[in-house]
Amino acid sequence: MATHTSAGEFISYRALSNLNPPDPQTSKLHAIRSHCFHNQYDPISNPNGIVALAIAENKLMRQDIVDHVNSNMNITPWHLTYGHGPAGSIELRRAIAEFVTEVFKPSMAIGESHVAVCNGAGSAVDNLSFCLGEPGDGILVGRPLYVGFFPDIEARAKVRPVLVPFGDINPTSEEAVGSYEAALHKSNAAGVKIRAILLSSPHNPFGRPYDNDFLIGIMRLCAKYNIHLISDEVYAKSHFPSNDVPAPPPFVSVLFFDLEKYIDPTLVHVIYAMSKDFCANGVRIGAVISPSNGRVLKAFRAVASFTRASQLAEHAWLNLLNDKPFQKWYFPLLQQKMTDSYEFTTSYLRKHNIPYNKASVTSFIWLDLSRYLKEDSVEAEIELNWKMAHGGVWVAMGASFASERNGNFRITFATPREELSMGLDRLAKVLQEVGEETGLSELQGF
Ligand SMILES: Cc1ncc(COP(=O)(O)O)c(C=O)c1O
Repeated sequence: MATHTSAGEFISYRALSNLNPPDPQTSKLHAIRSHCFHNQYDPISNPNGIVALAIAENKLMRQDIVDHVNSNMNITPWHLTYGHGPAGSIELRRAIAEFVTEVFKPSMAIGESHVAVCNGAGSAVDNLSFCLGEPGDGILVGRPLYVGFFPDIEARAKVRPVLVPFGDINPTSEEAVGSYEAALHKSNAAGVKIRAILLSSPHNPFGRPYDNDFLIGIMRLCAKYNIHLISDEVYAKSHFPSNDVPAPPPFVSVLFFDLEKYIDPTLVHVIYAMSKDFCANGVRIGAVISPSNGRVLKAFRAVASFTRASQLAEHAWLNLLNDKPFQKWYFPLLQQKMTDSYEFTTSYLRKHNIPYNKASVTSFIWLDLSRYLKEDSVEAEIELNWKMAHGGVWVAMGASFASERNGNFRITFATPREELSMGLDRLAKVLQEVGEETGLSELQGF
């Protein structure tokens, strides 16, 4: 299967399969992303760049995190060593266990031995996929899904993301459990053995939590078929009240449930990271918490030297996790800023008559721009996305999340006001132009 024309050009099929997108549409999606990613607006270094509202990046309290890291960084020679090994220092694992105990309210005791550290939530998915599936096996993920799950599952482990369609069923409701079961049967019948279900809980890109009945149902389903449940809970602290959702439901981790009632607890693995709640995507540190499966953690640790977090990243996160007074100040303020930013964005959307899904958690909003598509197709969505990019704003298109409907876009509202405002104005301008071209009648507000 390997491709080579001369000795120096040999590349394994395994690696090559990551370079060649499986279909022309995927390469078109990559083309927009790469165009925008490399030309992002920055008020100082690239003032003429494209305003990025496509990345799940909470930018609202970056300076406060920067200040905390800078004033607590005083490293020692120990930080120049391999420390306690590739799966994280004992101190950091203990601090993560404490944080999880406080925030996730687990029904069982969580200690440092249940935690393995790596360089981000994405790496945690990658390592778990590697440990839980053989190449060619499948992991079920509901549509639409966080776009990074595709490479996280597939690029190295060669496990397949098997997508779950829902039709008219609400993907975060109990009813959706049946859709997972149907997809599992279909996949097993096609020879792709399902090894796990992967959730982004709360839901990315919808920005809302799953119903508790869904979580219980999905645990029961995993128990029925003896498959693992990976719950990626990176947005645990990113919930906020708003006029749309004045009292958002509290964050509910799968660890909150009395697992033994629903599932063999050895099947349950949770992911957390610094990236989202601590506004620090670039620091690259996260963890797997597996309260009952030492064997999976051992297998995880055996590959963790390739995904180990830097001692400097460990130190930065440890300082934040251990600083309870900082957290007491930081999280309410983060929430307040998210509320402000969400209200600003949604009132803009309402003023311009742009339908959106109400969000209460994460840092983004799922828009419905289907009426601006010249036809109901992914091609038309790509065309609209290019118009936005050329108009100076990057918004993530539904097709990249494997959305079942055309015309959905995800916009990150947790963005500094000036940048957010500029991005929204550019988006509105593009939509106005498209509306004029297509003779759309609903242009009030422009
Ligand atoms: C649900 C989810 N998981 C994982 C990640 C990636 O996290 P990290 O930067 O820690 O790898 C993201 C980033 O958008 C995400 O939304």
